[in-house]
Amino acid sequence: MAPEAFRDLAGQIVDASADYLASLDDRRTNPAVSGVETETLFDGPLPEVGIGEAVVDDLVRIADACRAGTGRLFPYVVGPGEPVAAAADLFTSVLNQNATSWRSAPAAAVVERTVVRWLAEAIGCAGFEGSLTSGGSSANLMGLALARESRAPANETGAHPCVVYASTEVHMSVPKAVALLGIGRANLRLVPVDDAFRIDVGALEAAITEDERAGCRGIAIVASAGTVATGAIDPIARLAAVARDHGLWLHVDGAYGAPAALVEPDRFEGMAAADSISLDAHKWLYQPFDVSVLLHRDPGLARRTFAHTDDYVRPMSDDALEGLAFFEESIELSRRFRALKLWTSLRYHGLAPFREAIAADLRHARLLAELVDAEPSLELLAPVELSAVCFRSTLGDSGDALDRGNAELLREVNARGRVALSNATIDGAFALRACFVNHRTTDDDVRAIVEEVLAASAGRAGSG
Ligand SMILES: Cc1ncc(COP(=O)(O)O)c(C=O)c1O
Repeated sequence: MAPEAFRDLAGQIVDASADYLASLDDRRTNPAVSGVETETLFDGPLPEVGIGEAVVDDLVRIADACRAGTGRLFPYVVGPGEPVAAAADLFTSVLNQNATSWRSAPAAAVVERTVVRWLAEAIGCAGFEGSLTSGGSSANLMGLALARESRAPANETGAHPCVVYASTEVHMSVPKAVALLGIGRANLRLVPVDDAFRIDVGALEAAITEDERAGCRGIAIVASAGTVATGAIDPIARLAAVARDHGLWLHVDGAYGAPAALVEPDRFEGMAAADSISLDAHKWLYQPFDVSVLLHRDPGLARRTFAHTDDYVRPMSDDALEGLAFFEESIELSRRFRALKLWTSLRYHGLAPFREAIAADLRHARLLAELVDAEPSLELLAPVELSAVCFRSTLGDSGDALDRGNAELLREVNARGRVALSNATIDGAFALRACFVNHRTTDDDVRAIVEEVLAASAGRAGSG
């Protein structure tokens, strides 16, 4: 493709992107499409002869069948994507650096190392190193791989029996990691939580002591710094002390919550004593997917865990920087230059607007909790610890009927298209869940949640 043709095509794609952003507020947060309709739209044959610039029309149609990043997008832990970073993503793909190592991608390697340092410093963990990865799931897997190699080395001869501790609220990526690492999900001790869904430290210590007596080798504690359901933050400093006393690795799953340390550092006291920390920049740093970081303090251990290097990729330099190879300290070999969007976004805006946006998300969660409290037909199901709010409609039902009614209500709220929510199970009950990691949300968008739930509720009552 000639540079001028690229300029023309990219210009059209940038125009389509800007039109999309300009129309965001009029878009449905949840698109009104069925599975069959999306198949009819996009599951066509591969053309032998290309359609040229008409492909831009495809992009516009694709956008119409996407969940829009409005200020009313609240499901799971999903941000709407920050446009400066999105624009930088185009440049990332044009540069097409393979960020395996300094040897392959000199600028990318240093930009990544710098961004990792910035993030560590921003959350009060100066001195940590690490690398970017695709998400919290892979960061948690890597954190636990470090834990296993440090406490029960398995790389050469296979996994030994060992135990990992976490709360019952731990994210599903942790049981997945434990399974993939050959530790076995039965050896993940799920410790009960208190009324605020934080790990019960007494119960944890009892479980560790029991395992020690039985001769089971504990290797790690996973602290949740922002559980996925309610945003609860485990008492990290106390867990660090327990880990130290028992010789266990402490991994902090801050995939969701860790960026809140920019605003409320005291709530994350003890995080700097962890051995490894996950943080998803595509969650509460508003970045387009995908970019996450695993922080740790021991590059030597990271190399023992992940390096298995063939001659053809050896760095061929004794210089500490020019010999830097991310593939020797992480899972991937070929990798995107993920750091560039984050670098561009952070340098464009500075850190202050990120702090302000996170503070606004925290305030919006508290506002929703107040609105729910003020509405007799709604009730909160969990304390609001960070920016996740779990609630339900009382619907005049109880037990299973109440759960079924709220599940139906969630479907109807989402089908109305104005707000997008997800669900959680809180003490066995079905909850509607709104999570604020959205820099576009206004107070009116928060009010829209209650308006939509009440409107969908009234619709159900009318049809029933
Ligand atoms: C607490 C927590 N940990 C880990 C993850 C997994 O992150 P990812 O979806 O980026 O793999 C999530 C995702 O929501 C999460 O909330």
